[in-house]
Amino acid sequence: MSARRICLLPGDGIGPEVIGAARRALEALPVQFEWSEGEIGFGAYQRCGSPLPEATLEKVRAAEATLFGAVTTPPDLPGYFSPILRLRKTFDLYANLRPIRSIPNPVSRQGIDMVIVRENTEGLYSGVERVEEDGARAVTERVITRRGSQRIARAAFELARKRGASKVAVVHKANVLRQTCGLFRRTALELAAEYPDLEVQELLVDTCAMELIRAPEQFQVIVTTNLFGDILSDEASMLVGGLGLAASGNLGEGAAVFEPVHGSAPKLVGTGQANPLATLLSAAMMLEHLGEGGQAARLRAAVEQVIAAGQVTPDLGGTLRTEQVVDEVLLVLEEMA
Ligand code: NAI
Ligand code: MG
Repeated sequence: MSARRICLLPGDGIGPEVIGAARRALEALPVQFEWSEGEIGFGAYQRCGSPLPEATLEKVRAAEATLFGAVTTPPDLPGYFSPILRLRKTFDLYANLRPIRSIPNPVSRQGIDMVIVRENTEGLYSGVERVEEDGARAVTERVITRRGSQRIARAAFELARKRGASKVAVVHKANVLRQTCGLFRRTALELAAEYPDLEVQELLVDTCAMELIRAPEQFQVIVTTNLFGDILSDEASMLVGGLGLAASGNLGEGAAVFEPVHGSAPKLVGTGQANPLATLLSAAMMLEHLGEGGQAARLRAAVEQVIAAGQVTPDLGGTLRTEQVVDEVLLVLEEMA
């Protein structure tokens, strides 16, 4: 098999540390990689005058998949824009996938294995805002389209099939947001007719938020609109270990960008306390996307074994440094071989 073309975007803060860690883990697998590396974030802005230089977009375009670390967003800099939002827009990365899976550690609830599929391009984050009445009134428009609802619902149903899930929860608030959530709900439920093998349920978002705390193990795949998905996925990640473990993927028709959910954690830079596992788990999602499901499962199993052995960074109650956690993952991978 020819080498897999991966673009690495380390970014700012602990980004380079966790991306370096993921690269070491990926290179320990029996898969050939051809790496490219792009500049992104505040450092890129300082060096090249843009937080997302054209050369970086070219590298993402040329790669089969991209692994992104984190960026620092400086307070109010004229001309500055969020490179990750721009990346999502440029490549129309409409599906944000957030797996929520129990880990063998006391910080995690047990029996949970779900994916939240969040629409990533429209809804309340469409960017249609205005100020009226001399600043006394502000309006944000919530734009939902049939096309946007259809493609996110299809992504969720296809993912459910791929995971061997039996049901998908469509989460909305159509009783109040009658037009926008109404369209989202109708579109998703209509499409469900093409997936008779899946049990498609619907749930109001407030009920879903409650159920995630009461009985999270009931969920397999959740599909929802942008803001609801943002909030529910952060809520759910706290059930299973929090930011140091939360992985994600952004999928479009062409590009695919995988990233830990956490930010650049400036205070942790150079301390060795950055947990690399969220990025390793994002790398496992990337392998899955590339059709390397077997290697993805091995990497995930190695991460779980290291967690179970308590070989982790302080955020998970351990005493190891970033690089030492990766050393342990490599040892487990070697034992598995
Ligand atoms: P953050 O995610 O960087 O940190 C939040 C808390 O979690 C901190 O206590 C941090 O020490 C801890 N933490 C984060 N990642 C960790 C890891 N891998 N291991 C152990 N502990 C970890 O969010 P914060 O502090 O709100 O933002 C810092 C910078 O990151 C800001 O400039 C913000 O704009 C940016 N940011 C970037 C994101 C991205 O690149 N996708 C996402 C969120 C924030
Ligand atoms: Mg968020």
